[in-house]
Amino acid sequence: MSNENSEPLLIAFCCQYCSYSAADLAGSMRLQYPPNVRIIRTPCTGRLEVEFFMKAFEKGADGILVAGCLEGGCHFTEGNLLARGRVGYTRKFLSESGLEEERIRMINISAAQARPLVDYINEMLATLKNLGPSPLKSMNPSKNAEIRI
Ligand code: FES
Repeated sequence: MSNENSEPLLIAFCCQYCSYSAADLAGSMRLQYPPNVRIIRTPCTGRLEVEFFMKAFEKGADGILVAGCLEGGCHFTEGNLLARGRVGYTRKFLSESGLEEERIRMINISAAQARPLVDYINEMLATLKNLGPSPLKSMNPSKNAEIRI
């Protein structure tokens, strides 16, 4: 995916039961976040595998936000706990590879927390801007490749 304005590209994997609804609510409330965020709806963050995260980085993401239900509130019991473990594993992998672990983060929010979701997105984008482009982008043979997960 191209990023003509050199702003960081953030992929936000949002659980359909909580953060995706919060993103919808943010739209209804006319809360704004920058256009360089791509929200991908997932049935549960527990569906996300480490490979999905690495593929997103390879395809041009500068950072990844995984937004799941509140702890104890996952509709699949412990999907968000599995996701937290996988995000932790990915952070460790990035760190041990000499990359910044801050490029991926997990948050837990409810469907009513539109403002916190927007704040987390803006905070993550500020972090990514400070870090600069992801070195994993250069591994992408096609700069115009689309992110398909
Ligand atoms: Fe939302 Fe599992 S259903 S994180």
